[in-house]
Amino acid sequence: MTPEPELDRLLTAVLAQVQADDPRLAEIVRSAVTHLHAFVREVRPTEEEWLRGLDFLVRTGRTCTPTRNEFILLSDMLGLTSAVDEVNHAGPPEATPSSVEGPFHSPAPARPLGAWIADGPERERAEPMVVHGRVTDCAGTPLAGATVDVWQADDAGHYDTQDAAQPDGNLRALLTTDSDGRYWFRSVLPSSYPVPTDGPVGGLLSALGRHPMRPAHIHLRVEAAGHRPVTTHVFVAGDPYLDSDAAFAVKDALVVTPRPGTDGRRWELDGSYLDFAFDVRLVEL
Ligand code: BEZ
Ligand code: FE
Repeated sequence: MTPEPELDRLLTAVLAQVQADDPRLAEIVRSAVTHLHAFVREVRPTEEEWLRGLDFLVRTGRTCTPTRNEFILLSDMLGLTSAVDEVNHAGPPEATPSSVEGPFHSPAPARPLGAWIADGPERERAEPMVVHGRVTDCAGTPLAGATVDVWQADDAGHYDTQDAAQPDGNLRALLTTDSDGRYWFRSVLPSSYPVPTDGPVGGLLSALGRHPMRPAHIHLRVEAAGHRPVTTHVFVAGDPYLDSDAAFAVKDALVVTPRPGTDGRRWELDGSYLDFAFDVRLVEL
């Protein structure tokens, strides 16, 4: 970068005043300040542009409530949540990759294996689906007694917490794997849905010419004693937004094709249904 003596002097002066006792805090602030000064040097914002940027952050803060965090949404929409996930949870290639938690997790009702988790109006209109798989370690040894916390949107793209027509805890379950590490439940095929667009982050997406859609998915958090827990998603193959997820959370190993079911008696499903199989491999601690 071309030397600019006054900008160099400014950066050096700011860095010299970072004297935190906590060395990690000092490292984080030094790096953030250095990158932000480099940004100003490169972009050369006008004062008006800079104030617009600060106003965007003020509006983002003012949009936050106890149940809505617009800063997390901003981080998600810039791929930063996925980047932080990657630097913290990269695992061996055979392990199930993690993916962002998103804002819609809430405590799920414990349900028995095989439970119907779709207890709202979607049960009558959406495509029934059995979701099943096995939780193992990376060598394929089954993990009995693992907990599988699942949450998903309905066929209209709504979570129970966003939709008064759904009972509390709908499309959520806390399951425990059987002696063979298996889990299964009956549900409905979820659809793609938009992230909240009525705040400043929605305005940013639209100004950037970006859509707000997330491809259809089911969230899972799987925990087993002696193993690293994983928070992840399973995505529905064929969804039109798989290649442009607004939250940048799709990974190839997490995309599953729903197949026409052929064993309704086994899953206690009458008529046509989809079979959605997803195994989870955890890393031993
Ligand atoms: C979600 O899948 O629930 C989600 C993730 C990131 C941003 C918004 C929603
Ligand atoms: Fe989601």
